[in-house]
Amino acid sequence: MKAQRYIVGNWKMNGTRAMLNEARAIDRAAARLPKVQVAVAPPGTLIFRTRDAVEIIGVGGQDCHVEESGAFTGDISAAMLKDAGADFTIVGHSERRALHAESDAVVKAKAETALAAGLSVIVCVGETEAQRDAGKAEAVVAAQIEGSVPRSEAAAEKLSVAYEPVWAIGTGRVPSTDDVAKMHAKIRESLVGIYGDAGAAVRILYGGSVKAENAAELLAVDEVGGALVGGASLSAESFLAIVGAAASLDES
Ligand code: PGA
Repeated sequence: MKAQRYIVGNWKMNGTRAMLNEARAIDRAAARLPKVQVAVAPPGTLIFRTRDAVEIIGVGGQDCHVEESGAFTGDISAAMLKDAGADFTIVGHSERRALHAESDAVVKAKAETALAAGLSVIVCVGETEAQRDAGKAEAVVAAQIEGSVPRSEAAAEKLSVAYEPVWAIGTGRVPSTDDVAKMHAKIRESLVGIYGDAGAAVRILYGGSVKAENAAELLAVDEVGGALVGGASLSAESFLAIVGAAASLDES
């Protein structure tokens, strides 16, 4: 039996207060499935209310600034996320890397700031379609891991890595389970290279078009410790189908 799987919903820029009903429904169901660790990352405006509305599930940010406070209009610091009730934050999502020109160095600095603020962190990596077609997917992801994950052995305990091929995000396309297995094995090798033994325990999530229909198959792949779910996390029904798939695997 694998260790407790981690299923995280990334709501992206979706959700007003009405979405708190989904969070409550997710929370109630998660309470009955203790073998799965469940969390959601709502938009910043909902973190405080989501924390208040739920009991069991984790609540996190989708990004954070590298500084604790200051003249950074529109940004939110890790300390603020923590203060609002977040347990973790995602950093380095491909939408941040592409649309906000975030480099590996920036992602790493954000991850380190998040840890210093007392948050756990999910660092995202993943190749573009052109990089995969050019046969560079593993090299690209290995370089992102090397450049983006926070250092120190203690960091490994609060770190998850999400492998999200850019071409699979929101497209309905997913890599073959063979390709997922190969990439996750490669990521594991990088993490052990960086953290030593502690790198063996870092959870590696798969993300990109995870749905009820493919969740069981993806979550059963070696070294897949959970899923980062975008579109399908926006309703409790579709998200819980994925959580349920994780729970039944754990029971088998
Ligand atoms: P998706 O997004 O599930 O909608 O493909 C995943 C993500 O970007 O985290």
